[in-house]
Amino acid sequence: MKVLIHNSAELAQQAVADILTARILAHPASVIGLATGGTMEVVYDRLIRAIAREAVPVRDLVTFNLDEYWGLAPAHPASYRSYMNARLFGPAGIPLERTFLPVADAADPAAESDAYELRIREAGGIDLQLLGIGQNGHIGFNEPTSSLASRTRLKTLTQSTRKANQQYFGADEATPEYAITMGIGTILDARECLLLATGSNKAEAVSRMIEGPLGAHCPASALQLHPKATIILDADAASAL
Ligand code: GLP
Repeated sequence: MKVLIHNSAELAQQAVADILTARILAHPASVIGLATGGTMEVVYDRLIRAIAREAVPVRDLVTFNLDEYWGLAPAHPASYRSYMNARLFGPAGIPLERTFLPVADAADPAAESDAYELRIREAGGIDLQLLGIGQNGHIGFNEPTSSLASRTRLKTLTQSTRKANQQYFGADEATPEYAITMGIGTILDARECLLLATGSNKAEAVSRMIEGPLGAHCPASALQLHPKATIILDADAASAL
């Protein structure tokens, strides 16, 4: 695990955007795994600017997102499909037919999960997987006690995760109870993993991921097993190390 600590969140976000930009410039047909959440908003903003400034070729990229809420129409404003279209794919000009998220209103979640795994394999596997981390140590929506060998599947969200994500839903709207997420095994299959965490509310999860015992109680600790994982932090997220 390579751990890089930056003085500010802005520098950490820029560092992640720079790595993505360099990767796409060097390998325009890369398969990139993408993440959502507040942490990635500035990263995508910086990436869009770099794509425009440096004429980064994005037409041959293929992307797979980590997860999607179950039971939410893709057009719902809080769906991860809406987030990705608005915050990256549209402004960056990435052809939507080359962007994949689990289909959250598919009739059969198990069949959709298996099909998602197959789509990733058929694309040649993920070259670089971008990750955030939940306050409880989740990656994707692999909540604590998820099997470290898990594959894409339907997961029940914990109350704490639903509460953390309530801000993206209307005040009178219930947050989804389930999501389809890549499994921890799926994530570990990526050739390279790049996790970004900023802010003091992530400090405890970051310390458990990096210094804690490897185990299902902190799903992100599975990255200790990955041969090429880079963790990028700001000083606040690194404050419990
Ligand atoms: C969400 C997502 C994760 C994300 C994490 C942190 O629930 N499923 O992919 O990394 O929680 O989100 P945020 O960046 O908003 O703190």
